[in-house]
Amino acid sequence: LPTSHHLYQGFWYITRHLNGVLSAQHHFKAQDSDIFLLSQPKSGTTWLKAILLALLNRSRYSEPDRQLLLDHPLLQKNPHDLVLHLETRLYVEGTNPDLSSFTSPRLFATHIPFVSLPESVKESKCKLVYMCRNPKDTFVSLWHFTREMSPNDIGTNTLEEAFDMFCRGFSMFGPHWDHVLGYYKASLEMPHKVLFLKYEEMKDKPSEQLKRLADFLGCPFSREEEADGRVDEIIRLCSFNNLSKLEVNQTGKLLTGHENKSFFRKGEVGDWVNYLTPEMVERIDRITEEKFGDLGLKF
Ligand code: A3P
Repeated sequence: LPTSHHLYQGFWYITRHLNGVLSAQHHFKAQDSDIFLLSQPKSGTTWLKAILLALLNRSRYSEPDRQLLLDHPLLQKNPHDLVLHLETRLYVEGTNPDLSSFTSPRLFATHIPFVSLPESVKESKCKLVYMCRNPKDTFVSLWHFTREMSPNDIGTNTLEEAFDMFCRGFSMFGPHWDHVLGYYKASLEMPHKVLFLKYEEMKDKPSEQLKRLADFLGCPFSREEEADGRVDEIIRLCSFNNLSKLEVNQTGKLLTGHENKSFFRKGEVGDWVNYLTPEMVERIDRITEEKFGDLGLKF
């Protein structure tokens, strides 16, 4: 393996991300009102960022007032520039950023596995929302994404090589299955603190999942809001079609240098059929069954 990859507390990191994790562990102090968005890369992080932003700010932007909706930050910026990742944007390279300008509830994202979260995140009453996606689609999405990244990142391999590595646990913030399990178990043990969402369920029954999320965060939709179509409005605002077509997401870049459009590829469930051979499917399904089967976690 390249020397720029590190195994820390059971998970793989490139040097830059590991520095961010260590510095977040050292400096970050959670507040009870904080909300964390957690995921494995390519599980729907961008989408969940948009949904959380729209949900929490819904009283400020509404559809009947077109101008207000057009002013919505989600229509001007990529969600990654609105909800910052601890390890890749805030605590990069050992820094200790000033977070005093963040208003409550503070919204953060991270790919840090449960075991490595800063202690204050586990100890405070802050809420954690985990987005997870079926391992086959996550892998295919990751493969496309990492091919576009620099050689220093995990990404210059053929599909077969990348698949073998993914299955052996070697992927950004991987092993994939251990990452999911950490949060899944936490959600079973602390349902008031950790909400476990699935990309596939969000696609299949978005309004049900959105209401579940709102209830969990203590900001349920009122009857009037539901009657006014606010749930559907948020789903539409955050949909793949809507966000991916925005000028900012077609041509803009993140401060990290990633192109905004690289976070919007197909946005579908089951694209893996176009990439994985029957042998690959058998292998990855077997791992998923071995890791998740006992806990009844299925995709
Ligand atoms: P695909 O590569 O399968 O299309 P992340 O945000 O965690 O990096 O995940 C990116 C994946 O989520 C990509 O999957 C991307 O297309 C998909 N995605 C981005 N925005 C989405 C949205 N609004 N609705 C559904 N999927 C979305």
